Order: sequence, then C-alpha cells, then structure tokens
Amino acid sequence: MSSDIFEKCFDFQTANELKKMGYYPYYHRVESQQGPEITVEGKKRVVVCSNNYLGLANHPKVIEASLKATKQYGTSCTGSRLLNGTNDLHEKVERKFASFVGKEDAILFTTGHHSNLGALSCLVSKSEVIITDKLAHASIVDGCRLSFGQMARFRHNDMSDLERQLIKYQGKRALIVVDGIFSMEGDIAQLPEISKLAKKYGARVFVDEAHSLGVIGKNGRGTGQHFNMEDEVDVLMATASKSMASIGGFIASKAEVIDYIKHSARSIIFTASLPSACVGAIDAALDLIQQEPERRIKLMDTAKKMKKAFKSLGFNVNNSESPIIPVVVGTDIIAFKMWRMLFDEGVFASPVVTPAVPEGQAIIRTSYMATHTDEHLDFILEKLKKVGKACGVID
Ligand SMILES: Cc1ncc(COP(=O)(O)O)c(C=O)c1O
Repeated sequence: MSSDIFEKCFDFQTANELKKMGYYPYYHRVESQQGPEITVEGKKRVVVCSNNYLGLANHPKVIEASLKATKQYGTSCTGSRLLNGTNDLHEKVERKFASFVGKEDAILFTTGHHSNLGALSCLVSKSEVIITDKLAHASIVDGCRLSFGQMARFRHNDMSDLERQLIKYQGKRALIVVDGIFSMEGDIAQLPEISKLAKKYGARVFVDEAHSLGVIGKNGRGTGQHFNMEDEVDVLMATASKSMASIGGFIASKAEVIDYIKHSARSIIFTASLPSACVGAIDAALDLIQQEPERRIKLMDTAKKMKKAFKSLGFNVNNSESPIIPVVVGTDIIAFKMWRMLFDEGVFASPVVTPAVPEGQAIIRTSYMATHTDEHLDFILEKLKKVGKACGVID
C-alpha cells in the first residue's frame, strides 16, 4: 500500500467511468433563473428535479426583497450570529417564522444542514439517545454523529421497530428525529403513532420539515399541521432552500430550547451568518406562502395527477404522498442511462443510486413546482414513457 494519503483520490474512477459512458449526471451548468424551464448547458430543458416547490425562487417580490436587503445591509455580516453577525432582519424573520409555525421562538442558521448539525449535536448529550428513521436525511445523520449521545435507527416508517428501540433505550433521555416528508421517497412520517410512542416512553419529537413546510398542512405549516397535531412536534426544523426560495435553516421550539441552542450549537457559533440577500428573500417568501395558498393547492393537485399518470404508465412510484415522486427504475446504470436520455430529450431530472437507495432500487427522483403548466407535465410524462420503454423499465 502506498504511503500517500492521496492514493484514494488517484484511484477514484467512478466519475470518470460515467463520463466515458456519457452518463455523468452531476455538476451540470445551469445558466438561467430557477423555474419550470431552465437553460442547462446552452439548451432549454423542463425541470423535474427542483425543490422550488412553490415556484418562488424567481418571484419578482422575492428578488426585489433580496436586492433591497443587500442595498440596506451590504453583502455580508462577516461574522457569526453570536458575535457580530446578527442584524434586525435576521431577528425579524425569526419572529415571522416562529409565529407562522406557532412556536415560541426560532433561530436562523446559515443552511438547513447546519441547523440539523447544530441542534442535534447540542440537544443530545452523553448518556442520551437519538432515535432516527433509517431513511433520515444525511444532515440528520451528520448531526447524530457529531452528538456525544448514542444513535439508534428504526426501519423506515416502521412503528413497531421504533417502539423496539424505545424499549431498548428505556431509562435514557431520548429524542426521536424524522423527516416530515422523506426527501427521496416522498412519503410522510407517521406522526400520530410517533407522538403516541414518544409520550408512552417520555421521548421528545424533532421533525425536519425541509420538504413539507409550505407544502402540506392546511396553511402550509408542515407535518404537524397536516395531522392536526402541531403541539406534538417539540422541535421543528425547516430549510429555506426549498419552498422558501433562498438558503438558510430554522429551528423553532420553546423559548428555552432555542435559547440553549443559540448558545450551544457549534454550527451557528463558529460560522458566518446568513447574508441579507438570502434573509430578505426568506422574508418575502414567508409572506407569499401565507398570502397565496393557491400555490400549495396547485402543487398538490399536480402531485396527484403525476402519481396517477406514472402508475397508469406502469411505473412503480412507491408510497409517495407528496410532490416528490420517485420513479423506480432498477439498477444504478439504468438510472444513469435514463438520466442521459431524458437530458437529451429536454428533461432535467435527478438519478438517485446506491447507497442513497437499496441495491437494484435506483430511482429517477421527480419533484414538482406550483409553476409547472399542464404542457410541462405532459412533456415530462411523454419523455419518461419513451425513455422508460427504451430502457425496459415499462412495457
Ligand atoms: C430533509 C432535508 N433536511 C435537511 C436538508 C439540508 O438543507 P439545506 O440544503 O438547506 O442545507 C435537506 C436538503 O436537501 C433535506 O432534504
């Protein structure tokens, strides 16, 4: 074995092999604003992989608010929230977010990933336990790894397995952590059962609403509202990089919990604060989410229409209940090949392969926006049908 620490880099051939086959799906250059159609490497393509669920990422009011904030506060706070990186706009959106989700207080991190890292690592200490769904997002897993507590995992959405874990760790203080809508599967956490078990075993519940905020619930407040049990969510996390059309991450909870996180989470203390351009965009997006419920309604209608259409074409879309619809295609190589064919046909999609999904269960992860028109949706269906047939995924 070579003594060079770079040996693994020189040996890494996965990306090159895909490039040689013409199937490399990563880091493609987008040359336009985010919308249902974008320019990727010189050609207009219909997007079916964006998290811009409500279509706000190029909304004139969001852009205007972002520009106005930059003019007022400049381009960077050049410091962390704790010391010199908090301005009145950060505090304004924290109050607005907390009030929107019905929590006492909220704190704004620089990304959603940072929110999970910071909150989970400081909330769970030595001799305590985090119990997460096996398909929880990578940022949750990273937060668990950074915590000094133990980490336990239960089978995806399997409530008997969750109870088994709670019994196993009975006697330890526990935090159950789930995604509201699971980012690859598009299904929803079983909050009523999770909450019942949390009460039975004295655990707290943390829900990552990255894909559910603005999307489900009567007013778009996420999974708690979807099940009409918002008070059962002890900690609500949301990223600003999806429905909120910006970047950043919120943690909302009781005032004491937020105060503790504010003074303990390393990923807020030791990183620079979110630039005002992003905070201004969040401010405007939060207003639009509340003022224009028709976006959410249109989005959910689109999700239903697409799920039905995929099923009638013979595709397996697992248990999606949201605007994330995974189209199961089989092996990783089929997913890469389909990605390439779709790209050439004018559809920009995302292949998701092992280890993000089990072996042989690779998917084309499709996701929808309130601003997709019927023409866009028909185009996506026509191309997926053509490519699915050509690759032997459907008859
Ligand atoms: C479920 C979930 N949580 C957290 C994150 C991290 O959020 P961000 O991209 O804003 O850092 C993501 C992003 O993809 C996500 O899907």
